[in-house]
Amino acid sequence: MGFPKKFLWGSATAAYQCEGAWNEGGKGLGEWDEFSHGNPLNLNNESGDVSCDFYHRYEEDLNLAQQEGQNSFRFSIAWDRILPDGRGRVNQAGIDFYNRLIDACLVRGLEPNVTLFHYDLPAALAHEGGWARRGIVDDFVAYAKICFEAFGDKVRLWATINEPKYYSYCTNMVGNYPPNHRCDFDRYYCVLYHEILASAKAVSLYHEMGLPGSIGIVHDSSNVDVAEGTKNPERVRTIADFFYNRLVLDTSITGTLPAGLVPFLRDEGIDSSFAKDEDAAVFEQGKIDWLGMNVYNRMYVTDYTSGETEVFHNNVGARAKTKEGIRIKDWFETAVDPTTKRNLWGREIYPQCMLETLQEIRERYGDIPVYITENGHGEYETPNEDGVVEDDDRIDMMQGYIDKMFEAMESGCKVLGYYAWSPMDLYSWVNGYEKRYGLVYVDFATQKRTPKKSYWWYKDLIEAYRKQHEMQGAES
Ligand code: NOJ
Repeated sequence: MGFPKKFLWGSATAAYQCEGAWNEGGKGLGEWDEFSHGNPLNLNNESGDVSCDFYHRYEEDLNLAQQEGQNSFRFSIAWDRILPDGRGRVNQAGIDFYNRLIDACLVRGLEPNVTLFHYDLPAALAHEGGWARRGIVDDFVAYAKICFEAFGDKVRLWATINEPKYYSYCTNMVGNYPPNHRCDFDRYYCVLYHEILASAKAVSLYHEMGLPGSIGIVHDSSNVDVAEGTKNPERVRTIADFFYNRLVLDTSITGTLPAGLVPFLRDEGIDSSFAKDEDAAVFEQGKIDWLGMNVYNRMYVTDYTSGETEVFHNNVGARAKTKEGIRIKDWFETAVDPTTKRNLWGREIYPQCMLETLQEIRERYGDIPVYITENGHGEYETPNEDGVVEDDDRIDMMQGYIDKMFEAMESGCKVLGYYAWSPMDLYSWVNGYEKRYGLVYVDFATQKRTPKKSYWWYKDLIEAYRKQHEMQGAES
């Protein structure tokens, strides 16, 4: 495949993380609005009420992205802006807002890449059981249909759901995202399954509607690496891969559930009654056109037989020494590789995982087109006396991952785009605002935007790519 002539260089956001305007424009209440207004598990006591005020300032942010040389912009639609009660009544002001946003992208030469669900469930649906209720599948498809009808003539790149696995993991295993269940395996698999089923149904609807674009799903890349010295390494690999990847990837790409998953869950005493025979046809008809991969880390695992099941997570950064991970009795535990770096929130920085995950996708699933829908680096940051953030660590991190992406492309992987997370600083869920990811610094008190050093680095990188590949007529 090599280097495509038209490669998408963009950046990515999500509605609840950047829009603010939580109670404006006819928006309904979201599960995150409720959670962030007083739940004691909201550790940093922050909310997305205002964030970087993208709802009012999107033109400034898009200008900066355009001036940086980007040609695509990824954002999500807030379900509760379109359907304030989750279903039924449509909020025209919400439709109008996203029409303005899409048009603003298009006039700037930024191809909109639009995600339908990025963690932010309408509160009304959350109260009915959220993604654990099978009826959510049809609610999601009805919402998707409204979006396809309203924006489908202009949006050519759609994603159904952002990180279905990580969403289910945080809402049902870690318990740091609402509705805050902990170590609940039944619910983990049930929620994940319903997301995948809803995604497949929306994909098939999109195809039936004959709109002029393509549709995918966004997975948080979690390729499994088994530590040396692990007992029963193949068993550990299979179980970890079932846990992290296969339900999303096999089902969305090949249209069939991973062989052996349901019997495995049954043997392990996990409720698998969510899987119905009639779903097979839905999966078969709902195969994605492309795969989005949010690439941050791998899953480095080893055997775990002697202790209890336990999840650990760090949403307070340098204030704690906790690393991110899980121990599941008789399955596996996440291991620590002493040779690799971690960020201050305990997540591994491992550029090699970009190459490995892309090659694994190609080996397993052939030439499915891939977009790197997110990659980026979270840091505490303070501007220097000239007001500029010199984020060399971010530049090193992202350059390392991009080099590995190029290596993968050279070896034949079909990668069509890369999105930096994030264009500007925004709300980082339970981590609040101290963990910054932007290429542009946001002073949240004044809403002033100032490009960081990484902004200029990204600009140069995009320019260099274009000079080398687009102008010299690389493969299209
Ligand atoms: C994954 C998610 O899609 C996004 O919402 C999150 O803020 C970033 N990665 C950074 O962790």
